[in-house]
Amino acid sequence: MRAVVLSVLLAPCLAAEPEVADFGKTVDGTAVQIYTLKNDKGITAKVMTRGATLVQLHTPDRSGGTDDVILGWDSVAGYESEDNQYFGCTTGRVCNRIAKGKFSLDGKDYTLAINNEPNHLHGGVERSLDKVVWKAKGYSNDRGHGVRFSYTSPDGEEGYPGKLSVKVTYFLAKDAPRLSITYVATTDKATPVNLTNHAYFNLGGAGSDTVLNHQLQLNADNYTPCDDTLIPTGDIATVDGTPLDFRKMKKIGARIEKLTDTAALGYDHNFVLNPKQDKDKTHNLAAVLRDPESGRTLRIMTQEPGIQFYSGNFLKGQQGKDGKTYAHRSALCLETQHFPDSVNHDNFPSTILEPGKEYRTSTLLIFGTFEKKKK
Ligand code: GLA
Repeated sequence: MRAVVLSVLLAPCLAAEPEVADFGKTVDGTAVQIYTLKNDKGITAKVMTRGATLVQLHTPDRSGGTDDVILGWDSVAGYESEDNQYFGCTTGRVCNRIAKGKFSLDGKDYTLAINNEPNHLHGGVERSLDKVVWKAKGYSNDRGHGVRFSYTSPDGEEGYPGKLSVKVTYFLAKDAPRLSITYVATTDKATPVNLTNHAYFNLGGAGSDTVLNHQLQLNADNYTPCDDTLIPTGDIATVDGTPLDFRKMKKIGARIEKLTDTAALGYDHNFVLNPKQDKDKTHNLAAVLRDPESGRTLRIMTQEPGIQFYSGNFLKGQQGKDGKTYAHRSALCLETQHFPDSVNHDNFPSTILEPGKEYRTSTLLIFGTFEKKKK
């Protein structure tokens, strides 16, 4: 009897911990580890310590086959190469753009690196969160398997004020097709923080030709219009009557050509998510993506106010995992976030984290399949 009670009590702690393996070294010789999370729903996620990055994400299609649905590389060198456009990484300290790399906070002016002329993009150049090697710890409990990444960014790193402690946790539910990403941060000086994950999805499998045949629905009546350098003008405008109207499920390729000759070169817009309908739910529905070919669906739920839909307009045919080619618009990003350049727009939800306060937000990636329509 005692043995039974004991094993019931210990069962959650005894669940096998996520497998960890060496993934190679960075150019400066730092060892990088990769963790594997698996569940009963046929999902496998691999995450590495460089950039707390999602490296692989295998999900079932409608006929029971499995594919890796995100872009990436088989080695650290791939991630360190010029070809890496933030594939799968944790992006920050501030994701997206800050106009001319400048902002003022508590009476002080700050200047950040300009790495996307004439603006600052995705946290900087050498020590942005996607490029540093994080500490990691795998764990398991009765609900699933996770990896907790942590990194402390010193005061002034990449020009940002305050020593920022960041934790990012990937957690794969045991009995649901759900991967959650949770971000927690604290600081010792007021500082802007806006964290996201920059996974590039192709639900037909990474390396498939295009995402223009995917269908997308966004829970957004409005977006933040931008100038020619993709900095928001500060307005919140309706999507009604524009190619950005994804309130009903739409094929991505249907209207993209109307945007090819704009500064965004396609879709590269921040959508303002409609307020959460169900107050009892912890997360708001942001996006539903479907691939009619494979039958895969991805539902994104978040606690963030916005989502950047980027249609892979800068992908250039680089070679990634398994020698596959990543063609122009062959993958897309759905980056849950606070609005771009919030630090320079008082009418946007604030991205300033104060000492003594905790930044905490999470996003859920929920996979599924749908049946082919009968003809
Ligand atoms: C974000 C930006 C894009 C581009 C990609 C990375 O999604 O909005 O303009 O910079 O990151 O290539």
